Amino acid sequence: MAKTIADGFFNDPRLKEAKKLIQEALKEHQSQIKGVKSATPELKADYGALLKKVADWRGGALFYNYLGSGIGKGPLVELADGSVKYDFITGIGVHYMGHSHPGVIEAQINGAVSNTVMNGHLQQNVDSAKLLELLSTQACKNGAEVKNVFLSTSGAMANENAFKIIFQKRYPAARFFAFEKCFAGRTLGMAWVTDKGAYRQGLPKTIDVDYIPFYSATDHKGSIEAATKVMRKYITRYPGQHAGFIMELIQGENGSWVGHQEYFEALIKVCQESNISVFVDEVQTFARTHELFSFQHFKLDKHVDVVSIGKNSQVCATLFKDDHKPKPGLISQTFTGSSSQIAAAYYVINEVVKGGYLGENGKIEKLHQHFKGHLEKLEKKHPSKISGPFGIGAMVGTTVFGGDETKSKAFTFKLFDNGVLSFIAGGHPTTRVRFLMPIMAVEENHIDEVCAIIDKTLSEME
Ligand SMILES: Cc1ncc(COP(=O)(O)O)c(C=O)c1O
Repeated sequence: MAKTIADGFFNDPRLKEAKKLIQEALKEHQSQIKGVKSATPELKADYGALLKKVADWRGGALFYNYLGSGIGKGPLVELADGSVKYDFITGIGVHYMGHSHPGVIEAQINGAVSNTVMNGHLQQNVDSAKLLELLSTQACKNGAEVKNVFLSTSGAMANENAFKIIFQKRYPAARFFAFEKCFAGRTLGMAWVTDKGAYRQGLPKTIDVDYIPFYSATDHKGSIEAATKVMRKYITRYPGQHAGFIMELIQGENGSWVGHQEYFEALIKVCQESNISVFVDEVQTFARTHELFSFQHFKLDKHVDVVSIGKNSQVCATLFKDDHKPKPGLISQTFTGSSSQIAAAYYVINEVVKGGYLGENGKIEKLHQHFKGHLEKLEKKHPSKISGPFGIGAMVGTTVFGGDETKSKAFTFKLFDNGVLSFIAGGHPTTRVRFLMPIMAVEENHIDEVCAIIDKTLSEME
């Protein structure tokens, strides 16, 4: 078969040799990263000054004093002050492959040497086609029909596209259902879906949303009845006005609250009776349960109309059924993702699918159990300071100091100083500390070390 000029370039032995040399150099320098390390004394002053400047340039201080140096090794990352920390929050769930992963670096180089920085909906390279096929076939492998994949550059934008698709399909219905305490992103539209007043303070109203209480594992039957009752109440109050229901099957930003198949099926039944589209927001859950998509984990394949993904997928996307296809002009973007991003997305997703991560005996579940076991032991040791854990797979939440927001925040800062990155979620009085593990880089011994640091941090706090 005739080859393109690009095929010749990408297979040029000089390119292969250059990539080999880069990997060798990376490995050599990475070998100096051996574990958690405090800042290099000579770098401290400059680092402090730089952080101050960054705060001025961006109009506010960073949450953590974190500026990466540009190298890491697996779950360990070097900061520009020379310190090394365990990254157990991964940019709120993006660096699933940890830091300076050789496979991801190779994918990024392949993207970087291609002809353009950016792909967009007018012009995409063949790598986008590979990614679309992978996502489409994986999403539909158990009978789901969300075969259309529309790439975008943020989770919020993937959600915006999902809302537009659903509103157009269900016109003139203009209301939406969402779960209480959900997070959907920070665009003007999504700020009115996200159930947090502080995130939309001063913003004009964009979307009317009716909130449904989330599943409660301590009241399985009661919470299903309560949620369907509230849904029916709103449908009676606003007949024919609900276009869709955005569902996050494990609430991430609220602190790893896990739903239940029967609960979702009960709500979906009400949706189907009233022509309401079922939209699953997988921006945070994608690749973190035993299945690639959390709707597959909860066996909702036959019921999903629209799905959004982000974070772990490296590139964001909206997937939808044929009967939800938008009319031309409704959605499009100049940027769908850089060439390096798209190559890395394919590498990461393909690795998760083929590398033994999924399934009940996969790596995700094994690491979850290992982490959970440690956290349970810590609860026994510090019963007044830590409880839980909560979550599924690569999403792990824990309550510290009874869910007090100020103390939980103080705990995360102390943990950071001691060498582990985590983050807070939810809000007072049910604040949680959460961890989004870099599953492709973590081994059990890393979790042992992280938990020893959590133990030390709890002991240091009153
Ligand atoms: C469930 C969910 N949806 C949407 C978003 C928004 O994604 P992004 O920050 O990429 O816009 C997030 C981000 O945390 C999320 O957790």
